[in-house]
Amino acid sequence: MTDPPEITEEEFRRLADFLYRRTGMVFTETKRYYVERRISERMVATSSESFSVYFAYLRSEVRNEVAQLINAFTVNETYFYREDYQLDCLSTDLLRERVATKRPRDPIRIWSVPCSTGEEPYSIAIWLLENWKDVDTYDIEIVGSDIDTRVLEAAAEGIFGKRALMRLSPELVARYFHSLDDERWQILDDLRQSVRFSRVNLIENRETRPQGRFDVIFCRNVLIYFDDESRRVAAENLYDNLMPGGFICLGHTESMSRISPLFEVCRYSGAIVYRRPQGLRA
Ligand SMILES: C[S@@+](CC[C@H](N)C(=O)[O-])C[C@H]1O[C@@H](n2cnc3c(N)ncnc32)[C@H](O)[C@@H]1O
Repeated sequence: MTDPPEITEEEFRRLADFLYRRTGMVFTETKRYYVERRISERMVATSSESFSVYFAYLRSEVRNEVAQLINAFTVNETYFYREDYQLDCLSTDLLRERVATKRPRDPIRIWSVPCSTGEEPYSIAIWLLENWKDVDTYDIEIVGSDIDTRVLEAAAEGIFGKRALMRLSPELVARYFHSLDDERWQILDDLRQSVRFSRVNLIENRETRPQGRFDVIFCRNVLIYFDDESRRVAAENLYDNLMPGGFICLGHTESMSRISPLFEVCRYSGAIVYRRPQGLRA
């Protein structure tokens, strides 16, 4: 591996500012090594001999380089049944409340954003098949979205390694995956085709809005990469994507109360989630 390029403070600031405006993610000097490694990958891939040549190329918006840069900087850590106490809360409490006003065969819309390589939306599908007695009564639609186009391609392919599957029992793996070789398992076609994937930037209302309104949104382990302002923008966008009375689940280190006053806090025995109030937004 070649040494990453040393970039000046001013170059670092320009790059961090560019990424912040495009993604909401904050990169401070403490992340310099990570930033230099990632930028080095992109400079090699675009045959740029210096940061300024690369930055000019990036700004010219040719060959989708902005998307490639974003893909290189995202942190995509995820696995099946992550923070499964929230999945339990979904099947035990949240859906019971959501279906109280629905009729059989009505749609139930669930959004996993960001979904990374797909483990989260597929986990929701498997969990509901295994644990929710009314799973066949309603028309369940699960959508997975992310800003990173590379992870979305992987999600649609649905091929996973041992680490991604580590929290699933061998019985669940045998029921919902077929093995490709000793190291890789692909989710069954029916399940794969039941989840729709789309590219969405959480801080861009023109991208979140067309996804429509959901009963439940899982927005886990992304707000930690944002600053207060981008968290607020993302929260307001997601509020618009919730049906009145709909729920949003965050990662366990994230709290909506510190981000936005728009939501009600709901404490269930297994999890704290947030709800869009039934009334109109003030
Ligand atoms: C750590 S993963 C979380 C995946 C999953 N929700 C989980 O908890 O396992 C964070 C994801 O956030 C995505 N991301 C970062 N900024 C984003 C933005 N502005 N809009 C949508 N997704 C974003 C990244 O591409 C990455 O896949």
